[in-house]
Amino acid sequence: MTDHLTIVSHPLVQHKLSLMREKDTSTAVFRQLLREISQLLAYEVTDNLPMATKRIETPLMEMDAPVLAGRKLALISILRAGNGLLDGMLELIPSARVGFVGLYRDEETLQPVQYYFKVPDHLEDRLVIVVDPMLATGNSSSAAIDLLKKAGATDIRFLCLLAAPEGVETMKKNHPDVPIVTAALDDRLNDVGYILPGLGDAGDRMFGTK
Ligand code: URA
Repeated sequence: MTDHLTIVSHPLVQHKLSLMREKDTSTAVFRQLLREISQLLAYEVTDNLPMATKRIETPLMEMDAPVLAGRKLALISILRAGNGLLDGMLELIPSARVGFVGLYRDEETLQPVQYYFKVPDHLEDRLVIVVDPMLATGNSSSAAIDLLKKAGATDIRFLCLLAAPEGVETMKKNHPDVPIVTAALDDRLNDVGYILPGLGDAGDRMFGTK
């Protein structure tokens, strides 16, 4: 993974994303699509994982079979919408370790403030994949990655469903070493920080809140 931004243009990803964008898509269908799309995105974001070989025996003979090398990777969800991407990813990578970062925006300073932080140990030895469906301003993702770097993470990738150019710029400025994988790069943010055309509030749509 060398590019700073990878847009996954696979037809299945694009089709599912269009269904998710539609305002009349129900919570149940939105959730199911998110689970499906998260697995397709997980496939892309885990490209180039380090491999080793293991001597195994097939029913016919011995062989050196490729297996993942190193410590289990860590999936870090930015609460709460990140959790919508986790379930599907864990089906694909069941042995991944999981962490959570909770941030809220201070109404006066508009800066992200941490309210929860629980991550797996040995982050310095793991590939860390940070998940949040919407990369909007990029402030909370940048702040979450700051915290993860402070906790020792050095090999970090960021996975989202939709990105705004503003968010990609913020990430590029603050974390040029963190590649971003997304299903689409949308046009811009509106004046209250929603991605346009977007899909609305991802958390509300996946959890059925308003
Ligand atoms: N968060 C969302 O859920 N949606 C947006 O459009 C931007 C941030």
